[in-house]
Amino acid sequence: MRIRSKAVHAGDRKPPKPQIPVSTPVHFASSWVNTTQAELDRIFAAEEKGFAYSRYTNPTNEALEELITSLENGHGSLACASGMAALEHALKTVLLDRPKRVLCARDIYGATIKLLLDVLKPFGFETAFVDTNDLAAVEAALAGFKPGCLIMETISNPLLRVGDIAALAALCKRADSALIVDNTFATPLLVRPLELGADLVVHSSTKYLAGHGDTLGGLITATEQYFETMRRLSRINGPVMGPMESYLTMRGVKTFALRVERQCQNAAKLAAWLRSHPAVERVYYPDDPAHPDAAVIARTLPEGLYGGMVSFEVCGAGRARIFEFLDSLKMIVRATSLGDVHSMALYPWISSHRDVPLDKKAEMGIRENLVRLSAGIEDIEDIKEDLDGALRAA
Ligand SMILES: Cc1ncc(COP(=O)(O)O)c(C=O)c1O
Repeated sequence: MRIRSKAVHAGDRKPPKPQIPVSTPVHFASSWVNTTQAELDRIFAAEEKGFAYSRYTNPTNEALEELITSLENGHGSLACASGMAALEHALKTVLLDRPKRVLCARDIYGATIKLLLDVLKPFGFETAFVDTNDLAAVEAALAGFKPGCLIMETISNPLLRVGDIAALAALCKRADSALIVDNTFATPLLVRPLELGADLVVHSSTKYLAGHGDTLGGLITATEQYFETMRRLSRINGPVMGPMESYLTMRGVKTFALRVERQCQNAAKLAAWLRSHPAVERVYYPDDPAHPDAAVIARTLPEGLYGGMVSFEVCGAGRARIFEFLDSLKMIVRATSLGDVHSMALYPWISSHRDVPLDKKAEMGIRENLVRLSAGIEDIEDIKEDLDGALRAA
């Protein structure tokens, strides 16, 4: 080869060596050279496993997908570019052969509501909302609205409601409706929704699974019933994660159980401490014996692992006082995410639930003095000191 050709070809596409790298490399290739056209033909036809084009599958993504499938105890997974891309793809997967009607949990992330109302409604998808903690209301909505699926969160954003996934899955099965569970807040360490009867489990892996605030991603894990449809559609519309993001997510997942255990411990300590703070009106945390879902929580969440999120209301505060409180934080990161190694605080009123109409916010119980805190892995005393200083300053 001459220099212009060498510059393009040298080093790449070496035959496999017997040594196996200890971690999966980042495969940036967009396409693969197959030994024969016949082999490529079989791969395109999905008659043979193999790589042809990264929109179909990529070795780095495949490694991450195998990892999350194993953690969620599912049949197979799809790594997507974001949690929202994963939610949209999950909805399209289960609704492909079903009525385009979505029954959505009332307590849910604001962008999920917008996905249904601003993105999918114009394409003919209808949505109705229901309190998934009221099983009779869900049963009535399944019978009356006849949805193709129910979508909910394991631990809801931001008020930390916990639904009875097993009971809801049984109701959905009877009504021939699929169940999609967003397991972002719980992670598979706390709850594995497929084991409780859900059909698809979705994660914003941006959060606890990746855990370091450096990558965006979404994961869907499906039962056998939906796996082929999910992959077949994604080969066409390509909502897939990039290989670098897959690598970073996989690297993060290796320590997620350690991080989440510590985050749960810190969150429980913060909830207890905030409950006795003079500037705090009310604390939302699933370890509370007076929590409205205490019985479901006792059945669903493992003892001592109630999640890393704590929400609380600041006494008599309006928007200006909450702004002041957040602006006074020194260590806790004021940013619109959660689940990272660093503690984070956010004001749902202007961020995660910004576009939720006022009447809907009131129905969900999101008040203007609510703060959402994601406990990090730092020393608990530093987190308390920072919160205390900001609560007193505000
Ligand atoms: C519960 C939940 N689901 C889904 C998403 C969307 O994930 P992403 O931001 O990765 O698209 C978020 C984002 O905050 C979330 O909190």
